[in-house]
Amino acid sequence: MKKLIMITGATDGIGKITATELAQKGHHIIIHGRNEDKAKRVVNEIKQITGNEEVEYLVADLFSMDAISRMVKKFNDKFDHLDVLINNAGAVLNDKRYVTKDGFEGTLALNVMAPLLLSQLLLPKLRNSKESRIINMSSGTHRLAKPDMSDLNLEKVPSGQARYGIAKLFVIWNTQHMSALLQKNRIHNVTVNASHPGAVATNFGQNSNNGWLNDFIYKASLKLARWLRLDPRKGAVTNVYLADSDTVQGITGKFYNNKKHQIKPATKQWTAKKEQRVWDYYMLKLKPWLDADAIF
Ligand SMILES: NC(=O)c1ccc[n+]([C@@H]2O[C@H](COP(=O)([O-])OP(=O)(O)OC[C@H]3O[C@@H](n4cnc5c(N)ncnc54)[C@H](OP(=O)(O)O)[C@@H]3O)[C@@H](O)[C@H]2O)c1
Repeated sequence: MKKLIMITGATDGIGKITATELAQKGHHIIIHGRNEDKAKRVVNEIKQITGNEEVEYLVADLFSMDAISRMVKKFNDKFDHLDVLINNAGAVLNDKRYVTKDGFEGTLALNVMAPLLLSQLLLPKLRNSKESRIINMSSGTHRLAKPDMSDLNLEKVPSGQARYGIAKLFVIWNTQHMSALLQKNRIHNVTVNASHPGAVATNFGQNSNNGWLNDFIYKASLKLARWLRLDPRKGAVTNVYLADSDTVQGITGKFYNNKKHQIKPATKQWTAKKEQRVWDYYMLKLKPWLDADAIF
């Protein structure tokens, strides 16, 4: 069955490969990018490679919640439903803390708040689909995270890598939480799962500055990734599977590894109370951009 699929951060890396492979399977693809020229170029490239003409783009800087709202309005004007939302875009930022114009720490804005806002704003369209899926890109790095519940805008976390790990842990907690709320509200046609793509050689981390030691380790691991032939295409395997396969229909609130296997995420830091606190904190911060009739 042909699906309408939106993929964030699909102008490069894993997102671009995911978009190409799903277009190859005949789905209608909306790639999201932050740079219009690049997005246009990638759309044409995917059309050429796949022969699928149903590939288009939407633009938004995911550091900006206003830009996300505007993008969703454009989507809503054109489409009456959405079958799959892949919240793929993400990045590790510099050690020097970046705060967005909305006042949010940048790693959180991009990796946690943008997916949460998009999922909330697009929920009515996802509900209009017979069977829809949200896929949130996390990372194995979440296992190293040690979040301080009194510092949810990450003011005291000194390193970009540590902020990234915490953000990706919160992606998993929010995925679990949203899944439970959907069930509680008897919304059974929308599922939400998180995934880890494995370490693959993309642009990821290349532009960040995390001190000489972290950068040295990162560059060495990139070289290792290339040496081990960790082809970026391998990073798209699980998301293509979660978007397209009938075998995951109805499965929700789970975490998948890079080999399409459902696995247990780290539980060391988790408590139900912390998960609730994280959800409440970011949902409250996002309130100015949420619809008045939003369910959650
Ligand atoms: N690569 C890995 O080893 C690895 C491992 C674990 C998890 N992940 C996760 O996998 C996902 C994809 O990573 P990747 O390796 O494909 O990274 P990538 O090659 O750097 O691509 C990232 C994509 O996100 C977009 N993007 C970045 N910042 C943005 C912003 N502020 N607003 C809008 N779009 C933005 C980029 O746009 P431009 O094209 O304009 O740059 C690009 O399309 C991320 O969530 C990452 O955290 C990756």
